[in-house]
Amino acid sequence: MRVLVLGGGGREHALCWSISRSPLLKKLWCAPGNAGISQIAECLALNPSTAGDVVDFCTRESVDLLVIGPEAPLAAGVSDAARDAGIAVFGPSRAAAMLEVSKAFTKEICTASGAPTAAYATFDTPEGAKAYLTECGAPMVVKADGLAAGKGVVVAETMAEGMDAIDRIFDGPGGGTVVLEEKLIGEEASFFVLTDGKTILPLAGAQDHKRVGEGDTGPNTGGMGAYSPAPAFTPPIERRAMDEIVLPVLAEMTARGTPYSGVLYVGLILTENGPKLIEFNARFGDPECQCILPRLETDFLALVHACATGDLGTQTLAWKSAACLTVVMAAQGYPGDYGKGDEIAGLDAASADPNTLVFHAGTAAREGMIVSDGGRVLGITALGADVAEARARAYDAAAKIRWDTGFFRSDIGWRAL
Ligand code: AMP
Ligand code: GLY
Repeated sequence: MRVLVLGGGGREHALCWSISRSPLLKKLWCAPGNAGISQIAECLALNPSTAGDVVDFCTRESVDLLVIGPEAPLAAGVSDAARDAGIAVFGPSRAAAMLEVSKAFTKEICTASGAPTAAYATFDTPEGAKAYLTECGAPMVVKADGLAAGKGVVVAETMAEGMDAIDRIFDGPGGGTVVLEEKLIGEEASFFVLTDGKTILPLAGAQDHKRVGEGDTGPNTGGMGAYSPAPAFTPPIERRAMDEIVLPVLAEMTARGTPYSGVLYVGLILTENGPKLIEFNARFGDPECQCILPRLETDFLALVHACATGDLGTQTLAWKSAACLTVVMAAQGYPGDYGKGDEIAGLDAASADPNTLVFHAGTAAREGMIVSDGGRVLGITALGADVAEARARAYDAAAKIRWDTGFFRSDIGWRAL
């Protein structure tokens, strides 16, 4: 099979790594990719969100399968344009990706399908939002509608923080609409489900670490580390998440004429009263993807191809009996401003143990060196008999990396231990 992966982060390195292990693979491209991905795929200087260019490439090169990593190409209609051109696509249509793109849409569909989520209200003006906050009081979660790269959510503990967050959303690029939401109490879990619009296969659960600082402090990030499976996401909780959230929401999407296909990321808070939805994403989580795929025994290329062609019913999932943990190394300053272009050494030593993998996120190759080229830069990933062993291996590997301006959290996995 000839495969094009869109994206260039740690998630896409993990996707390319899994795909490259399949005997079905003939040729792998990635746009734009990164320095790590370029070791296993041909990287393309192609904007993944420009539908015309992606479709032209796929047609010219007889690409059999297009795998869309991030949300931006989905929101830009790349999956629809590729499907219209007869290309098999792993990724939902633009209409189905509304589950990620619009928080207001997600809330509305949860209400329509009875899926448990935080109580909420949606406002088009700062005055309306502030009146509601004054009436209900803090704490309150304030969310910008639309894609905000993980920076559109403020968990306001005080009224002043809430008012300030509302002002900043209406002044900012998200503009338009704000969602105010009840603060849910409980551990978070990320749950991934594959569907071709007919068959629905629960893939795996994971736990991410969203805050930048040790002990889950400081601002939110894209994710500083993750592990899978997540002990808190027990089989009975998974069953409830499927029955109460995933199945009714996917049925509602189908009933509306916009069936969902691809991977659905179900962001949950495990409350005393059961799992409640905080968000859907129309893609794999990052770093969660990096610690889920190494556990999978099933041929991943066969799996995503079946998902893209409506044959998911033919697939079964097999897993290694191992836990996997990813420690993200980020550039000093992230999630705020950070520098680029600093040399990173020790990568071969860090991945010498067969149980460790170093996925690249924001890296570039320059004059024979690997240099930092983004906020989240590496995902140091290790397998182990349990989370404790995987974590010890991942930190051993991280210690071998020499990068003066990089940092990582030293407590990834603390909830599971
Ligand atoms: P989101 O972009 O919706 O995933 O929100 C980012 C983060 O904000 C989540 O990972 C949670 O830590 C937090 N969050 C979002 N919604 C809620 C909520 N209703 N209650 C508590 N925390 C929340
Ligand atoms: N790790 C969180 C996300 O991918 O959105």
